[in-house]
Amino acid sequence: MEIKKAAFTLSAPRESMCPKDNKPEFAFIGRSNVGKSSLINMLCNNKKLAKTSATPGKTLLINHFIINNEWYLVDLPGYGFAKRSKSVQQKLEQMITGYILQREQLVNVFVLIDIRHEQQKIDREFVDWLGESSVPFSIIFTKADKLGRVKAKENATKWMDALKDRWETLPPYFITSSEKKTGRDEVLDYIDSILKKL
Ligand code: GTP
Ligand code: MG
Repeated sequence: MEIKKAAFTLSAPRESMCPKDNKPEFAFIGRSNVGKSSLINMLCNNKKLAKTSATPGKTLLINHFIINNEWYLVDLPGYGFAKRSKSVQQKLEQMITGYILQREQLVNVFVLIDIRHEQQKIDREFVDWLGESSVPFSIIFTKADKLGRVKAKENATKWMDALKDRWETLPPYFITSSEKKTGRDEVLDYIDSILKKL
């Protein structure tokens, strides 16, 4: 799959204000600062497309990017950023869960996980919630450049294996680095395979 054209479409505070042209969407979700916006930029070969920041909590709206005039990449705010006030946190959670549960054109959610850490409760709860809600999703491990190749693979396998205590079939997973462009072809081919089945 080749990305020939990528452009920002709009930012929406809720699902009902997202684009209405009914094109398939792939959303990126995960903890604040895990690298969602950076990954979208890496996939599109455009560092300025989605706004990134070294400080967590940069993305606060549902951001749509139209790809090849055919489908959307969707950048979502991060969850689990402790420094936010309770009311802001609640509003963001409503925005995220509302979008995921109501959005009919959402074909896959990518849950981003920092490859350096052991399975965190908040990520596990989110993945379990997607499974319970029958939302199609896959896992993307980020920041693989921060570990050696063997350690990265080991951490990813361990993280996935931990899901087996509750889930019989595991979702696909990808090991990526936005810095090094690792995993780009794999993620794009996977998106392509989903689009072809629609
Ligand atoms: P929020 O919008 O705040 O939820 O964050 P986000 O998940 O969109 O993260 P963002 O893409 O803004 O990246 C957060 C920080 O991690 C930035 O300083 C990035 O440069 C860094 N980062 C993202 N991806 C990678 C990666 O693959 N490798 C390395 N080394 N750093 C990365
Ligand atoms: Mg972001």
